[in-house]
Amino acid sequence: MSGIDVLRDALRNKGTAFTLEERERLGLAGMLPPRVEGVAEQVARVLAALRGQPSAMAKFGYLSALRDENETLFFRTLIDNLEELVPIVYTPTIGEACLDWSRIYLRPRGLYITPRERGCMAAVLRAWPRREVGIIVVTDGGRILGLGDLGANGMGIPIGKLALYVACAGVDPARCLPVTLDVGTDNASVREDPLYLGRREPRLAGPAYEELVGEFVMAAQEVFPGVLVQFEDFANVNAFRLLAAYRARVCSFNDDIQGTGAMGLAGLYAAQRITGTRLTDQRLLFFGAGEAGLGMAELVAAAMVREGLSEAEARRRCWLFDSKGLVVGGRAALAGHKRGFAHDHAPIGDLLEAVEAVRPTVLVGASGQANAFTAPVLAAMARLNDRPVIFALSNPTAKAECTAEDAYGATDGRAVLATGSPFAPVTLNGRTHFTGQANNSFIFPGVGLGILASGASRVTDEMFFAAARALADQVGPEDLAAGRIFPAAARMREVAASVATVVARVAFAEEFATRAQPPDLPASIRAGMYRAEYRDAA
Ligand code: NAI
Repeated sequence: MSGIDVLRDALRNKGTAFTLEERERLGLAGMLPPRVEGVAEQVARVLAALRGQPSAMAKFGYLSALRDENETLFFRTLIDNLEELVPIVYTPTIGEACLDWSRIYLRPRGLYITPRERGCMAAVLRAWPRREVGIIVVTDGGRILGLGDLGANGMGIPIGKLALYVACAGVDPARCLPVTLDVGTDNASVREDPLYLGRREPRLAGPAYEELVGEFVMAAQEVFPGVLVQFEDFANVNAFRLLAAYRARVCSFNDDIQGTGAMGLAGLYAAQRITGTRLTDQRLLFFGAGEAGLGMAELVAAAMVREGLSEAEARRRCWLFDSKGLVVGGRAALAGHKRGFAHDHAPIGDLLEAVEAVRPTVLVGASGQANAFTAPVLAAMARLNDRPVIFALSNPTAKAECTAEDAYGATDGRAVLATGSPFAPVTLNGRTHFTGQANNSFIFPGVGLGILASGASRVTDEMFFAAARALADQVGPEDLAAGRIFPAAARMREVAASVATVVARVAFAEEFATRAQPPDLPASIRAGMYRAEYRDAA
């Protein structure tokens, strides 16, 4: 390959960083502006152009175009500017991008698999140009962030998550494969959009759906042996079942359930350093009892048991509230996965009443219901607790259960707050509060890197406990002093390296590892991280 083709190959292109010698050798004379630049100058130009864009979506478009042009420069810019750019390549902007996916679509990225591929999925996967795939993030578009069923428009999520694997955990982009299982959509407005790019069919269900997912999971293992499959943004009617079906058979996990659980547990550990309490002292009310709420409730209850409570006592400390109200024992037709937290109590349909009845120390929002934490709810939390712990996990920003301003305002600045999407600092009575981002992007990149580093054949609960501890340990006194119970986004790579180290250690200890343990595991993990540096042009 030489001449213009080199410049059009995003993996080989260095743009203005090609040296004069490379330009001559590759037949690029005259095709580039004369000045030869280093990558730092290129990043400075990208940032200048980005900051001049009129909106987050315009920035998203610019970065996507850059990635199609020069993948190394895209990742280098992202890695060097995580705090500023993660909200563009991931939540909240990715939510807007998914809503608009069929309108902004320009170039293919990742694989779309539909019922037409039944019987030949291995061949479709084999046609993927990179052989060394180690992580697949797969969605069926069934519950994209808090935005519901977006069908094939959900492809932005696996692409965005894998960009974080590369930028935050240094997973080589060649090892990442985004996949959308386009099984149709039950969202009529998506299906009837004249520009919609997915299948215009109702969602596949029942055995046909099961068989399609099953063939995909097995074909992925056949074509990329040992590949980690991360289930992402499936509707919860499918998510719990798929996790149960595959977690013991192949290397797989569900980030919305398990990743969120570990992230939430880490937030509680860090919050305890502010509140001066223990995990076993907490009473939690989960507003939203789906994948995120239940994933966190299960892991927190299991952690309480490890810290000395009986299982019954631990569960008794976790209460759920869903679209039908407080989850109580007498409720008819209760989904199986909620039963373990259905306590004896009269039904309550109103959140404020539930807060008064349960008297939680921690209120967790995982409902996708914007502003559900009203001023009276937040004020009740502040009356019941000296330092009320509030997690408003729902994404994107417009779906958050409360804003940072609401939470600090209604609690005299006493809330220990964390939110799924980033919020700007809030100044109240002369004090500035920095809100930590309670996002599983602090967990899954490190988990994936640890799996790759150890060649783990399974993803176990022990790995998520260890990941939660490692994340909490990354929250420093300066974070806590600023009010943040999660590290600053700028430190995501350091966090991922620590999480990866403990996850790999668990894999070696539990004998799920298929690679030899290096003598210095943390150093070996850090040394193997992709840094987005140009290679000499061959
Ligand atoms: P899900 O669909 O599995 O669960 C949603 C839950 O909210 C259900 O239990 C439902 O009954 C409940 N709900 C809906 N309307 C309600 C209402 N009016 N009152 C009370 N409860 C109501 O969704 P999932 O996966 O649990 O996600 C929920 C939200 O959490 C989404 O916005 C998602 O983006 C966010 N999330 C954030 C994460 C983070 O890292 N910050 C990680 C995973 C999810």
